[in-house]
Amino acid sequence: MTERDTHRVIPLMDQRASSLPLPSTAFDIQRRILPHGLLSDTRGRDLRDLRISVTDRCNFRCNYCMPKEIFDKNYTYLKHADLLSFEEITRLARQFIAHGVQKIRLTGGEPLLRKNIERLIGQLSELRTLDGRPLDLTLTTNGSLLARKARDLKSAGLQRITVSLDGLDDAVFRRMNDVDFPVADVLAGIEAAQAAGLAPIKINMVVKRGTNEQQILPMARHFMGSGMVLRFIEYMDVGATNGWRMDEVLPSAEVVKLIQTELPLVQLAPSQPGETAERWGYAGADGQHDPRLGEIGVISSVTQAFCSSCNRARLSTEGQLYLCLFAEKGYDLRSLLRADASDADLANAVAHIWQNRSDHYSELRSALGPDTGPPVKRVEMSYIGG
Ligand code: GTP
Ligand code: 5AD
Ligand code: SF4
Ligand code: SF4
Repeated sequence: MTERDTHRVIPLMDQRASSLPLPSTAFDIQRRILPHGLLSDTRGRDLRDLRISVTDRCNFRCNYCMPKEIFDKNYTYLKHADLLSFEEITRLARQFIAHGVQKIRLTGGEPLLRKNIERLIGQLSELRTLDGRPLDLTLTTNGSLLARKARDLKSAGLQRITVSLDGLDDAVFRRMNDVDFPVADVLAGIEAAQAAGLAPIKINMVVKRGTNEQQILPMARHFMGSGMVLRFIEYMDVGATNGWRMDEVLPSAEVVKLIQTELPLVQLAPSQPGETAERWGYAGADGQHDPRLGEIGVISSVTQAFCSSCNRARLSTEGQLYLCLFAEKGYDLRSLLRADASDADLANAVAHIWQNRSDHYSELRSALGPDTGPPVKRVEMSYIGG
């Protein structure tokens, strides 16, 4: 047993096979909900953001997401025939847009591992929101293939990109990705993305107390004034395999306090409704935010849940619709697609599913405390996307 395993209970459960029944109202022609872009769930939250996982594979083994002990050579990934095809994804995306989606994020696993991903980006970039604007089309990547692919992604129609980067120190970075991947290659990928004009670039750093917290200040210094937005993410209890413990969470308030010891920050107003990150701008000599120095974000999913404004739906690699990052099951839209449902049927199913939605897991966890969460059967983030 490694030192890491000693505190970990690893349930070997596969949540991928089972799904929730589609609401019967979705098939009731009298109760058909025509798309009008104003769909709200039971808590008054609109549908605005669709995250699509295009592969459950990744070439990294970040301990907080795909721990090596589980995702080893015996782990069974989805077969190609089980994945949604690009045409299926685009068709579904169109129905979500009809109900008000304005932003699509491609995720994984590592989305750049999906063959010909540029073709999907090309298809999605042609879609228009209800008011005729291009989608906010973006992608989250670990950056390992970015140096090679940035230019093609941009030409295919990708607007911007988010790169995960958990530290600048090579030894720390290699330990975090757990496959000995050098940080220099990801930094080269980020440069290529900048050169290609995939802007604004966001950098996501998951902070684990005792593992990479010493990288907070070097990261803040490195990205200050770079035009990129660095975001610090609280380590979450997502999935069922990462052995999450509250004492490994470094609250965002402490991250901000630490940065303030060296680089003064001022809090900024949210730039859009439902934003996950709280924004802080670097202050100039006059104590005011200096836009040339840029800003950071903190994402406090554990200490300050943002469920009340959660406008995100998640489509898994095999076409299950998840309404929460912490859900145990999703709704099988692929079966509808492959049973020759019409566009109107698909849009209607999406509408009924969203209207019935009441998920607010992070708020419940905050209210009940970290040790009283639901039984650990949650689906993995590498399957539904980050
Ligand atoms: P931007 O439009 O680029 O700001 O996207 P975003 O705010 O959705 O951020 P991003 O997709 O980069 O998500 C950053 C991280 O926030 C994720 O990797 C998760 O760790 C966390 N996160 C994103 N969405 C949710 C959510 O719906 N619930 C929870 N609990 N965490 C989330
Ligand atoms: N906690 C917080 N964020 C996570 N991610 C994956 N697992 C976790 C976790 N346990 C997010 C990170 C990463 C993206 C791909 O998924 O932000 O950058
Ligand atoms: Fe891969 Fe991203 Fe998960 Fe790390 S966090 S294992 S890079 S999908
Ligand atoms: Fe949304 Fe679920 Fe995250 Fe809350 S915990 S913000 S409902 S995805």
